[in-house]
Amino acid sequence: MKLAVLFNPPGALLPGEPIDKYAEHDGDETIRGLCGALERLGHVAVPVIADRRLPWRLDEGGFDAAFNIAEGEGRRCREAVPAAVCELLGLPYTHSDPLTLAVCLDKDVARRLVSSEVRVARGGLVQTRAQLAALDLAYPVIVKPNDEGSSKGIRGTPVAMDEGSAWEKACWLIETYGCPVLVEEMIPGAEVTVGLRGNGEAVELLGISHMRPRRPGLFVYTHELKTDPNFGEHLEILSPPDLPVAQLQAFEAAARAAWRLLGCRDVARFDLRLSGDGAPVFMECNPIPGIKPGWSDLVLMTQDRMSYDELVGGVLAAARRRWGDL
Ligand SMILES: Nc1ncnc2c1ncn2[C@@H]1O[C@H](COP(=O)(O)OP(=O)(O)OP(=O)(O)O)[C@@H](O)[C@H]1O
Ligand SMILES: [Mg+2]
Repeated sequence: MKLAVLFNPPGALLPGEPIDKYAEHDGDETIRGLCGALERLGHVAVPVIADRRLPWRLDEGGFDAAFNIAEGEGRRCREAVPAAVCELLGLPYTHSDPLTLAVCLDKDVARRLVSSEVRVARGGLVQTRAQLAALDLAYPVIVKPNDEGSSKGIRGTPVAMDEGSAWEKACWLIETYGCPVLVEEMIPGAEVTVGLRGNGEAVELLGISHMRPRRPGLFVYTHELKTDPNFGEHLEILSPPDLPVAQLQAFEAAARAAWRLLGCRDVARFDLRLSGDGAPVFMECNPIPGIKPGWSDLVLMTQDRMSYDELVGGVLAAARRRWGDL
């Protein structure tokens, strides 16, 4: 097949812009790795930037399908737009559809959909101090952008011990990123990420990773940690986790329920934590999970059981079965 690999490269930072502005965007290593895998699987893979020229690039490129890891541009609908362009052009594409991509990027909407079956932290959107007070949260809380990923905006000290400092952090986020702010009670227990791949009855568990901090205290997987080449000094990533089987089963069940409630397709990654009373709590779903070779969670959680090419090939195979191709 001739595949368009849809992506958004990082841009150059302008003076005054936040250092993590392009945290979610995919650089050369990811695109070279992904295209290399698709070529070794027997396809022609062409990187295609998902900017305003995307409709023309796809229309004129003679592609059979798209492998979509594009972040898009804008706020909560940005990730949905490249997929929507594929829909408009009738081009089959991998990963979830625009509705699921938009819902998952708006963490508060995702929380509301998932909460019918999976626990979410108490919290809500905050635009004014009165709204924060009305939430009547138990402190500490985490203050995070509602529509970002890759821990963008979750840097420095995103945890607040009281309402005054939570409001200060919310104001900083609004000023720095111009984003809606989600404030959630801190879930204290083990943090895991769960990878799922497939469709319908054939959704398989790719793996579970446990982010275990090396020091006691409140742990947040911040932007600084995610980009620190020496992150291993602060954090161990255990895959499979050294957690009781019943807990792992509960995390997997919660991820599978979230997958179904959010309408995921082909592949997705779920970030969860354990509550004080031992229940899995949903933090967010990543329907376009990172796929950087040797680095991303999905790659690390599968590396002892499958090659990078098998990981990528399985996502494409799931999509092709959905398209009626295989
Ligand atoms: N309610 C919470 N309780 C405890 N920790 C939290 C909570 N919400 C977020 N965190 C911490 O902040 C980190 C980032 O939060 P979240 O996963 O929502 O953001 P993200 O930027 O979308 O992440 P990703 O890089 O996976 O896209 C989590 O991995 C976790 O460590
Ligand atoms: Mg996350």
